[in-house]
Amino acid sequence: MTTTLRPISSVLPEQIQLLANDPRVGKHLRATFPYPYTLDDAKKFLSLCQDDSVFGIFEEKDFVGVVSLQVHHQPEEAEVGYWIGVPYWGQGIATRAVEKVIHQARGRFERLIAKVFLDNPASCRVLEKAGFEYQGVELGEHVYRLTLSETY
Ligand SMILES: CC(C)(COP(=O)(O)OP(=O)(O)OC[C@H]1O[C@@H](n2cnc3c(N)ncnc32)[C@H](O)[C@@H]1OP(=O)(O)O)[C@@H](O)C(=O)NCCC(=O)NCCS
Repeated sequence: MTTTLRPISSVLPEQIQLLANDPRVGKHLRATFPYPYTLDDAKKFLSLCQDDSVFGIFEEKDFVGVVSLQVHHQPEEAEVGYWIGVPYWGQGIATRAVEKVIHQARGRFERLIAKVFLDNPASCRVLEKAGFEYQGVELGEHVYRLTLSETY
């Protein structure tokens, strides 16, 4: 299977809405990810994205999800976020997408972090497979970290 990341601007709002408008996707994401997820939500999301930080995940030619790097207050740190459309779960796609976004982050950030709701073991597994280290629970979320300078 070939998983690639492309700039989010290459994804149509209709493609995003089709996969994002499922309560199983938004359940483990922050409240800013609405349900129902309308076409206007997808357009608004795209209007706020920057191509060097938000990527469409493609499996062969199919758009299957989104992965992002959100710069933190410390400029050397970014938070990784991701979601995959339900029809594509369980195929290793999130893991491959996170591995690819780690590659994108090298040279730009010293470390990546990720935060996972306590009831989302699949996402914890994704981060562990991609090489993140578990830091513990902080403010009700599992926290993971990857130090990029140590992984060159
Ligand atoms: C979490 C999510 C990104 C996983 O995507 P995916 O493409 O299915 O992930 P992968 O196939 O790469 O890996 C999933 C791993 O979790 C495991 N897993 C799945 N459900 C699990 C569960 N209930 N308990 C423990 N492990 C579980 C899988 O077995 C797999 O591990 P393995 O390869 O060792 O068998 C996807 O379900 C999703 O988008 N969920 C909604 C949004 C979300 O949670 N985003 C992350 C926010 S932190």
